[in-house]
Amino acid sequence: MEVQRRPVAVACVLSCLLALGMSIPDPGRREELIKLEASMRVGGNVRLSPEEKLLDARLSKLMQEEVAKEDFPPALHFFKARPLIRSSPIYSLLQKMPKGAALHVHDFAMVDVEWLVRNVTYRPHCYMCYTDDGSLRFFFSSGPPKPLTQCSPWTLLEKLRAKMVNVTDLDNSLISNMTLWTQEDPEEAYPSQDVVWKRFEQAFLATLGLVSYAPVFKDYYHEGLSQFYRDNVMYVEVRALLTQFVEEHPDFFGARIIYTVHRGINASVLILVVKEAMKLQVDFPETMAGFDLVGREDTGWPLWYFREALSLPASQGFKLPYFFHAGETDQEGTEVDQNMLDALLFNTSRIGHGFAVLRHPVAKNLSRLNGVPLEVCPISNQVLKLVTDLRNHPAAVLMSEGHPLVISSDDPSMFGASGLSDDFYEAFVGFGGPSNNLGSLKELAMNSIRYSSLPPNLQEKAMALWQTKWNTFVIENL
Ligand SMILES: *[C@@H]1O[C@H](CO)[C@@H](O)[C@H](O)[C@H]1NC(C)=O
Ligand SMILES: *[C@@H]1O[C@H](CO)[C@@H](O)[C@H](O)[C@H]1NC(C)=O
Ligand SMILES: *[C@@H]1O[C@H](CO)[C@@H](O)[C@H](O)[C@H]1NC(C)=O
Ligand SMILES: *[C@@H]1O[C@H](CO)[C@@H](O)[C@H](O)[C@H]1NC(C)=O
Ligand SMILES: *[C@@H]1O[C@H](CO)[C@@H](O)[C@H](O)[C@H]1NC(C)=O
Ligand SMILES: *[C@@H]1O[C@H](CO)[C@@H](O)[C@H](O)[C@H]1NC(C)=O
Ligand SMILES: [Zn+2]
Repeated sequence: MEVQRRPVAVACVLSCLLALGMSIPDPGRREELIKLEASMRVGGNVRLSPEEKLLDARLSKLMQEEVAKEDFPPALHFFKARPLIRSSPIYSLLQKMPKGAALHVHDFAMVDVEWLVRNVTYRPHCYMCYTDDGSLRFFFSSGPPKPLTQCSPWTLLEKLRAKMVNVTDLDNSLISNMTLWTQEDPEEAYPSQDVVWKRFEQAFLATLGLVSYAPVFKDYYHEGLSQFYRDNVMYVEVRALLTQFVEEHPDFFGARIIYTVHRGINASVLILVVKEAMKLQVDFPETMAGFDLVGREDTGWPLWYFREALSLPASQGFKLPYFFHAGETDQEGTEVDQNMLDALLFNTSRIGHGFAVLRHPVAKNLSRLNGVPLEVCPISNQVLKLVTDLRNHPAAVLMSEGHPLVISSDDPSMFGASGLSDDFYEAFVGFGGPSNNLGSLKELAMNSIRYSSLPPNLQEKAMALWQTKWNTFVIENL
């Protein structure tokens, strides 16, 4: 609105100054350029219905209030920003908003750690030990499991708790061991990428022992999907299959699996894994979305090292879709820094993170021309120390250029985030602030369906279901 008022004022000043012989740029031209830039943004060409315009006006007012705050949440570390975000009216709106799909979520970090501790560790036969470097390991077993090297003797949690007067401190310590979330100053707790990644991997290993027990696994995925469903996410691409959940919630569109392996394995093992992935793709075409490599890029093998294995499917005329993590690094010029270009050369369907994209103009072009979206996970990138102030995240540029992208949450339980809403808040408020509008949100949600691995007929169905939810959301929040 301010932008529309400005030309009048400028025109007036202009005539006065022209009289004094000053050459001020043509305000009409200026207006044209401002409009051109606005049209290039994500959502810049979305036409809003009269109802949507009403909601947009409300949203725009909330945004003005948000950016006027002294502590601007996207500029702060998420651990400090969370209470501010959660009390923001924009956050409440985003929570209610049908956000479509979560396309970048890891299986062992979907569920609130609180649930793991208060539910899973209270089940019978749950053993625990402390590693020498202060992390936890769990194991379900009818008798004491084999001792682990560099871990304390196994303790049966049931017995341990029975001896305690008050288990609150124990439970809280277990919770804090399995997430990066901390009340301490995050900069002090995690002074470097090496420190934060080490803790991150330790927390994964702790979770692994709880979740890889079959009866827990089933409940865990159910709980994970429930948490996304409650956050108004209708479809998830993760390594999971839970048809039971879909029966209970007919307006949940389901989940598909991206089969993954750690990028620390060697090239000969990856050949076997890729063959296994091809077999799964044949056996479970409806649940297998494709294949990816996980783990820290900076310390793992680059994609090019695995070229033989990754070429295997195509060389046999087999279609194994790839969803590579790539460019989750700020080490420009290193071998792993080529991962984004290599992911594109291997015809990846999407790029996980692509944080390094601005440093690779050719890869960026290819991603745009071929419609290969980036899965942007703002909170993950901040907590894992690629960026401090989210206004400086590369996706702020991508948003302004209308680059194909989706917003996701990567490992919400590790970061103290929940579903997609926290990351949507950071993207909406942090990547553009008042430049964004309801159209931006609408396009981001639609992107998540458009860029999913669902075949065209199911995408159409999902989009129709999403549209119904969206219309209701708009009417209910005018
Ligand atoms: C744990 O979760 C399962 C499945 O959601 C539920 O049936 C059970 O009652 C829960 N147990 C506890 C102790 O919360
Ligand atoms: C148990 O300990 C916690 C923290 O130390 C305390 O807040 C809580 O009140 C205690 N509960 C009982 C029942 O004593
Ligand atoms: C895990 O818990 C133990 C015991 O409370 C503690 O000594 C250790 O520092 C914790 N480690 C982490 C990484 O939170
Ligand atoms: C690759 O790793 C496997 C399993 O760790 C090992 O058995 C094998 O010797 C390794 N191969 C090469 C070529 O290093
Ligand atoms: C990538 O796609 C191109 C064009 O469809 C094809 O020629 C090539 O074999 C594919 N490469 C891989 C590694 O999948
Ligand atoms: C990117 O693509 C555009 C055409 O869409 C082309 O004009 C430009 O030269 C390309 N830039 C790079 C760095 O490849
Ligand atoms: Zn990831």
